[in-house]
Amino acid sequence: MAESWVNSAERIGADLHLDLAAHDGAGGRRAALARALREAVRAGRLAPGTRLPPYRSLAADLGVARNTVADAYAELVAEGWLTARQGSGTRVAERARPARRTERPSRGAPAPARGPRHDLRQGTPDASAFPRAAWLASCRRALNRAPNEVFGPGDPAGRIELREALTEYLARARGVRTRPDRIVICSGFAHALRLLFGQDRGAPGGVLRGPLAVEGYGLEFHRELLAAVGVRTVPLPLDEDGARVDLLARERAVLLTPAHQFPTGGPLHAERRAAVTDWARARGAVVIEDDYDGEFRYDRKPVGAVQGLDPEHVVFVGSVSKSLSPAVRLGWMVLPERLVGGVLAAKGEREASASVLDQLSLADLIASGAYDRHVRRMRQRYRSRRDRLVAALAAHAPHVEVTGVAAGLHAVLRLPPGTERSTVKAATWQGVALDGLAAFRHPAATQTATAATQTAMPARDGLVVGYATPPEHAYEAALEALCQVLPPAPDA
Ligand SMILES: Cc1ncc(COP(=O)(O)O)c(C=O)c1O
Repeated sequence: MAESWVNSAERIGADLHLDLAAHDGAGGRRAALARALREAVRAGRLAPGTRLPPYRSLAADLGVARNTVADAYAELVAEGWLTARQGSGTRVAERARPARRTERPSRGAPAPARGPRHDLRQGTPDASAFPRAAWLASCRRALNRAPNEVFGPGDPAGRIELREALTEYLARARGVRTRPDRIVICSGFAHALRLLFGQDRGAPGGVLRGPLAVEGYGLEFHRELLAAVGVRTVPLPLDEDGARVDLLARERAVLLTPAHQFPTGGPLHAERRAAVTDWARARGAVVIEDDYDGEFRYDRKPVGAVQGLDPEHVVFVGSVSKSLSPAVRLGWMVLPERLVGGVLAAKGEREASASVLDQLSLADLIASGAYDRHVRRMRQRYRSRRDRLVAALAAHAPHVEVTGVAAGLHAVLRLPPGTERSTVKAATWQGVALDGLAAFRHPAATQTATAATQTAMPARDGLVVGYATPPEHAYEAALEALCQVLPPAPDA
């Protein structure tokens, strides 16, 4: 037997796949085993400190002699890959991980900091604040309560417990008007887009068709996802009241971030909220409302969902990616009645993307009030981070205007025209990771181009600063580093 899963799992704590055939060569089986083990350590499949199986069990698993294993271990101990100590067996050495190769800067060039020291990219909530204890308690309660049918194939609409909890929560917190049978659970906003526009699970077609109007600034990932399924996106110019929905024409749908325009930061003006639902009603079109950070509003003027104005023409989509973590992969679509069947058909006969057990845990988290408590706690934390950002800029770069700060987990710093690229570059060299506004601009925004008009949107220079990602202890240093890379005042 040349290839084996080492199945003495209770001894090494994990299965280990060793393929001796792939390491055949000079030195017979001993050398092949030594090469396979070296490769497993180098690739990280055997982590430092991992205990290797005793000679006898590995020999039995691989069908080799006990001495072959003993000799291979001895060779790797001599080379420093493994350590052997009386009483604690043979383990992978703590320093066995090979040093990473680093790029050498060319002579004379200033060396960039290695990897970002300060991560101010938008997109990720504070990972250290995930409510581990509350999630664990909800998970335990949900499992204890779950009937056996939970462990069979899942309903593609999602667990009723979660849809009921969301119906109540979204009505209370976001002004969404719905019922459990209008909600379909998905794995997040990106999945919702795939379900709406087709190609989920490779299925052609889709519930909605393009062209799709989008905001002139938005997430490139979403534009690429839509392009990949053949949907043409048409950029709508933005002004201080949000997207110019008055320019909507023959598009069949529009994708908006009404509570907190992503990434520029303002809410969609009340008149435009009404105007966009009027347009959708008149044309039989659909508004897709991306409520990605709707819970995080700091100015006590909560902006409710546009969906509340017209539930039959708005698809409201939310997820826990900002409120809990993007790792959970749970989201929800609140649908007009006429779209429910199509979305369910796109999901397939069984739940294939959103873990039913996680759905039950989230349902418990929401119904028990722990989700609200977490959101409130995070709102305070992010608000304090935002205040510290604003204070640092007022003290050290008063000429830089901060916008989009009434909500969310990021702010936009307006820069003098023509300075964005060099500022992002300077930040990179100083180990500060952040994006310029240009990274979010629709490629066709300059020549725009809605179907009916030729309204171009002037480019803005700015930095998108995510203030949620750095751990608390590193935040002050990140702010200091940020202030140092900003361009000086024009007359300085
Ligand atoms: C604009 C925008 N929409 C939606 C999302 C949520 O995406 P998902 O639910 O696929 O993680 C994000 C990121 O969290 C975002 O930045």
